[in-house]
Amino acid sequence: MMLALWIFLVLGVGLARGRGGGGGTKWLCSQTTFCTTESEMVDGENYKKERFESQRDCRLSCGKYGSVWPMPTGETSLSHNRVHFDPQKIHFDVRAPSEATSQFLDETRRLFLGNLRKECRCDCTLASSAKILVKANVISESLVLDWRTHENYKLFINTTKAAGTVVNIQATTVYGARHAFETLSNLVTGSVASGLLLVRDVVISDRPVYAHRGLMLDTSRNFIPLSYVRKTINGMAASKMNVLHWHVVDAHSFPLDITRVPQMRIYGAYSSSQTYSPKEVVQLMKYARLRGIRILIEIDGPAHAHSGWQWGPEEGLGQLSVCLNRIRWEAYCAAPPCGQLNPMNENMYTVLKAIFRQVAEMGAPEETIHMGGDEVYLSCWNTTKQIRDKMLDDGYDLSEKSFFRLWAQFHQRNLLAWEEINRRIYPSIPEPKPVILWSSRLTDPLAIENYLPKNRFIIQTWVDSHEPLNKMLLQRGYRIIVSTKDAWYLDHGFYGSTVYHTWRTVYNNKLPKSRDRRQVLGGEVCMWSESVDQNSLESRIWPRAGAAAERLWSNPKDAPELIERRFYRYRDRLVDRGIHADAVTPRYCVLHEGMCEHYFYNTNK
Ligand SMILES: *[C@@H]1O[C@H](CO)[C@@H](O)[C@H](O)[C@H]1NC(C)=O
Ligand SMILES: *[C@@H]1O[C@H](CO)[C@@H](O)[C@H](O)[C@H]1NC(C)=O
Repeated sequence: MMLALWIFLVLGVGLARGRGGGGGTKWLCSQTTFCTTESEMVDGENYKKERFESQRDCRLSCGKYGSVWPMPTGETSLSHNRVHFDPQKIHFDVRAPSEATSQFLDETRRLFLGNLRKECRCDCTLASSAKILVKANVISESLVLDWRTHENYKLFINTTKAAGTVVNIQATTVYGARHAFETLSNLVTGSVASGLLLVRDVVISDRPVYAHRGLMLDTSRNFIPLSYVRKTINGMAASKMNVLHWHVVDAHSFPLDITRVPQMRIYGAYSSSQTYSPKEVVQLMKYARLRGIRILIEIDGPAHAHSGWQWGPEEGLGQLSVCLNRIRWEAYCAAPPCGQLNPMNENMYTVLKAIFRQVAEMGAPEETIHMGGDEVYLSCWNTTKQIRDKMLDDGYDLSEKSFFRLWAQFHQRNLLAWEEINRRIYPSIPEPKPVILWSSRLTDPLAIENYLPKNRFIIQTWVDSHEPLNKMLLQRGYRIIVSTKDAWYLDHGFYGSTVYHTWRTVYNNKLPKSRDRRQVLGGEVCMWSESVDQNSLESRIWPRAGAAAERLWSNPKDAPELIERRFYRYRDRLVDRGIHADAVTPRYCVLHEGMCEHYFYNTNK
């Protein structure tokens, strides 16, 4: 036993040395941000004089942004010196203006320490740790997280003989402060022997370019267990993303348990265990909140409504959704099983309102809802006798225009229902929040103003980058959230003729400009779940979503070549934190910077 332990220790330490390039090997940083060993110095590069104990140590301050992902948007300066410390010996002096904000920051601190421990290599304890004091100061009492929340922060690290190392975080809100702690964790790496290394002198001033930095997660086509949703949230937090758009239900399954209408789950979930209870959803929302993330729930309609909507006739409520069992589905819906809500059935509106009520009750008072609205097939309504008869009775004809009006009325009624519910539950919220719809034929810029008022509806566009839709909606004064189909659809490349979008394509996707900057709220990468479940979810999303995260936080101008090594470090950090982020290049190229230039990503794909 003792012998085994002895062998383990010797081997363990030996391996750690080997991996870190310890045992005397030193690393250097060049002006174009390569970190290489003395023996692999790249010809023609201008190297700085400092020597580092490992590649990761070097990377902490090599290049303007070191290891920080996403890159800060304000002043950034990182010294090449380090302090060597033990994470258990950090002192905190955290100040917030209220009990609730203090509690929030207690949790932030706990999460931060958890993330620091993931950086440890073998052992993090250090007998003689540098003295580190982390001061954080938040000004605002508000815990509101929406498009107007101030997420800015300043982070200073000053080291003097007299005071030791003082980290100073200043933020308007707790959300800015938690981003600062995230950045601070990017300024730390494990030391080869033990303990952690921290950049010794730092100035960072940072704020996001876009207010809406989202990831859309579909949990209907395939069910995603909550533990995997939480891991997705962890990855988002590490990337300073702030909106989880939860496409929780669709035609395929309805896993959300609506307490007032249990039929939705009973008829709609794949199984009785593949559901999300209201309590679980509320817990998840709190979990996300503490990581700086809102959860925005989508209840898609009128299309994409099959599972969960079948029971109307049996229970005397008539058909809530129509075209449910169309075999030749291609003419009536985008994908089987078909189902489009029945706008001529008052009971459908009653059920929908009960669902909205639960969404409102589960969410934060300031939170809005996504009402879907994509891929409506007029042919479904037009081939349903009840709907045709009622339209003719009401004095409509069966023209496209009439059906568009019916469709628009559907959204307008739901908007009113949502507003009424929110006024009742949250009387202190002064103005009703706009709701979100996917772009569709109804949001065609040439007609949208007849159907959807721009102060009440935000449009999430999902078209290819060359299409003029965004620009036209902006010209008409609409606010948009951008999910560029040929760059930010993470499901592409796994079915039909779609192509996989590499992290570079994701990264290079620039959002449209508008005269009024606030009109472009931001964007979302989309994880539709037809060909993904918990077995591959993490590697499908990560690290690519992180490339979008930097686009949305920093909107960088730099040539992508300069960000490559910082991205590799970001990806490894996700892996260290337990997220199964995919590999993006051979390990050799990560370890030997400068040896693989223009390889693997040279093509413009
Ligand atoms: C820390 O350093 C920054 C810039 O180097 C400086 O502006 C700031 O005043 C310093 N803070 C303290 C407490 O010395
Ligand atoms: C609905 O069906 C009728 C024929 O029954 C057709 O004349 C009309 O053009 C259809 N409307 C739409 C919008 O397709």
